[in-house]
Amino acid sequence: MVADRRVRPTALLPLWHVAGFALGAVTAALGERAAMACTVAVEETIDAHYAAQEVELEDPALAEQAPELAGTIAAFRAEELEHRDIGLAHGAEQAPGYRLLSALIRTGCRVAIKLSERV
Ligand SMILES: [Fe+2]
Repeated sequence: MVADRRVRPTALLPLWHVAGFALGAVTAALGERAAMACTVAVEETIDAHYAAQEVELEDPALAEQAPELAGTIAAFRAEELEHRDIGLAHGAEQAPGYRLLSALIRTGCRVAIKLSERV
């Protein structure tokens, strides 16, 4: 019998809603380019996360349990890359302190993903 591998959303979801809103509000207050820099940083982190999941799904045993999942992830990933490209096209990299801002946000997102994988 195949193990039930349905994924439940993280219990931290309410926290991420608040944190995401706060991040969006703070970067928007810093200016449009900072908001775009935030979008790019978040989307790049999500892209890396999806890419790692695609690698995991190369395991035939996992792929067999959820045959449609790889396609879903690929579609989500393409959407997020489109959002990243919109951010780049709207001056994300010209935001003041882009490198620092981007590094902070990417680190925060990676921590959030790691915590969400556990809780
Ligand atoms: Fe997105």
